[in-house]
Amino acid sequence: MIEFSINGRAVSVDVDPDTPLLWVIRDEVGLTGTKFGCGIGMCGACTVHVGGRATRSCITPVSDVAGAEITTIEGLDPAGEHPLQQAWRELKVPQCGYCQSGQIMQAAAFLKDIPNPTDADIDAVMTGNLCRCMTYNRIREAVREAAA
Ligand code: FES
Repeated sequence: MIEFSINGRAVSVDVDPDTPLLWVIRDEVGLTGTKFGCGIGMCGACTVHVGGRATRSCITPVSDVAGAEITTIEGLDPAGEHPLQQAWRELKVPQCGYCQSGQIMQAAAFLKDIPNPTDADIDAVMTGNLCRCMTYNRIREAVREAAA
């Protein structure tokens, strides 16, 4: 059994220790807001927080998170809507939407470290989160608005 906490809830799973955290989150825990894009750590669609740090769950073996606190998009703001989610909605950031939970989780971890980022800061940290619909300008704008 591997035990950890997800969105404040204790979880215990009986899976191969090498199973990617992404599949444990989706298939064992049943939280499907975290998406599979590339499976090799290159796109960011699967980004969650592990101990508050943005982490690519597709390349993180579940054994690596034993005892850790994991946050997914579903638990980003237990009180309701995180400022980033609000900005995403108000600025209509998503097009197809598939990559957006990963985008928001990446941005949320970053804003904790740099609460007032410049556009260059935003671009530097978000560059590894790919969007096929090319919503990059709206993502930058929404991160800026959430930080304001
Ligand atoms: Fe994890 Fe692409 S699915 S980085």
